[in-house]
Parts: sequence; C-alpha cells; structure tokens
Amino acid sequence: MIKSKAWDWSINKSGIWEIPSQDSYYLVQRWKEKNYVRFLDLGCGLGRHSFQFARAGFSTFAFDLSSEAIDYVKRIAIRDSLHIQADLGDMTNLPYEDSFFDCVLAYNVISHTDTTGIAKVVTEIERVLKVDGEMFVSLCSKNAWSYRDAGFPVLDENTVRKIEDGPENNIPHFFADRTLIGQLFSGFEVENLRHIQDMVVNKEEYESWHYFLLGIRNRDQKHRNPGQS
Ligand SMILES: C[S@@+](CC[C@H](N)C(=O)[O-])C[C@H]1O[C@@H](n2cnc3c(N)ncnc32)[C@H](O)[C@@H]1O
Repeated sequence: MIKSKAWDWSINKSGIWEIPSQDSYYLVQRWKEKNYVRFLDLGCGLGRHSFQFARAGFSTFAFDLSSEAIDYVKRIAIRDSLHIQADLGDMTNLPYEDSFFDCVLAYNVISHTDTTGIAKVVTEIERVLKVDGEMFVSLCSKNAWSYRDAGFPVLDENTVRKIEDGPENNIPHFFADRTLIGQLFSGFEVENLRHIQDMVVNKEEYESWHYFLLGIRNRDQKHRNPGQS
C-alpha cells in the first residue's frame, strides 16, 4: 500500500512557494514556441506555476492531494479571472484521459512517495501525456542530507519519512540517483538532466540536492519498476 500524504499548507511560513521557479520561465517560453496548449501543474501546491501558465494563455489544470491547496488555487483563479481547473486527488491515480496533456510540470512533487509509488506516478505522467509531449520534473537526490545523514525512519531502500517542523512533516521522500532515473524514465527521451545543489532560494536558506529532468514522451509506453533490471 503506497503511503500518500498531502502537505499541511496551513503551517507554511515560507514565501518560496508563491514565486515561480526560474525553470518555469524557460518552460513557458519553450512550450509556447511548441504551440502546446493543455498544461498540467501536477502537485500544484499554492499554484505559483498554475497562475503563471494560465496568465501565459495555457489551458491549465492544477492537481494536488491537499484540499487546502486546491481551495486556495480556485479562490485566486476566481479573484484574478484565470481559467484554471483545479482537481483534488492522488498523483498515483490521475483522473485524466490518456494523451490528454501537451505538457506536465511536477516541481518538487513526485518524490513525495516511496519506490513503488514513484513508478506508478511516472507511468501516470506518461499515460496522460501526448506522444512527443514534454514533462519537467524534479526529484530529490541521494546526495541530500535528509537521505544520507538525517537518520529519518527508513521506509524502503530509496525512501525515508521526513521528520521536521513544517508542512512536509511525516511525508515519505523517495531519493533518486542516475541509475534509478534511467529505469524510471525509460519511456522518455531525455532532453536535459541536471543535478543541482541549492543553498539559497529567493533569499531564504534552502539546503537541498535535486535532479531536474526535461523529458519527451516516446511513442512506446513501457511499464517500469525500479526494483527490476
Ligand atoms: C513542495 S510542494 C510543491 C508545490 C508546487 N509544485 C510548487 O512548486 O510550488 C509539494 C506538493 O505536492 C503535493 N503532494 C504530495 N503528495 C501528493 C500526492 N500523492 N498526490 C498529489 N499531490 C501530492 C503536496 O500536497 C504539495 O502541495
């Protein structure tokens, strides 16, 4: 049984989540030039990217497991006259048709599960993306302190449950390496893969290591399981 847990946004104190990431400006430009229309902000949180893409003219779908996040996105969308469909649910089981989206962004989201869960999420992203559609995802890296040194409870060989004060307390975190990424995303052509250490984000201390992957959906859909070679 995959353990899913939404962020508790009611105790969030960080402003990081309301300012679009640097990557998102590039993606808006890139995906506009490709004439992509239908966009999914998977694990939208407070909707910083949903608002940005909707303002840029994309037909925007925001999706999250947190009802607080979804209610917030709906409220701001109405206030700012933005056309966003905001849906509540679990990323391991998306409520969208096959080949529905041109592009999917999952920024600091898909690692919030375990090894079984992430394989399911990647399969779902692949299913809802059109052939030649693109996804941009970030993944926690095994270089991170939370995986290597923090001593958090181990859920499986790649996953710990984070214990901390804040909105992601008790949430499972899957940590990737290059090999796991190759196995998980074999249904995608890798356009860019970066491995980055953040230290300060929007003037806030933010120690982390992440992979950032821009991938293009291949024609042949495959089922992947990082437990198998
Ligand atoms: C770090 S926040 C990122 C929010 C947003 N992508 C951003 O960049 O601002 C992670 C989000 O993923 C959501 N989440 C966690 N597990 C989820 C799941 N199983 N299905 C859908 N959303 C999930 C959380 O509720 C939270 O809003």
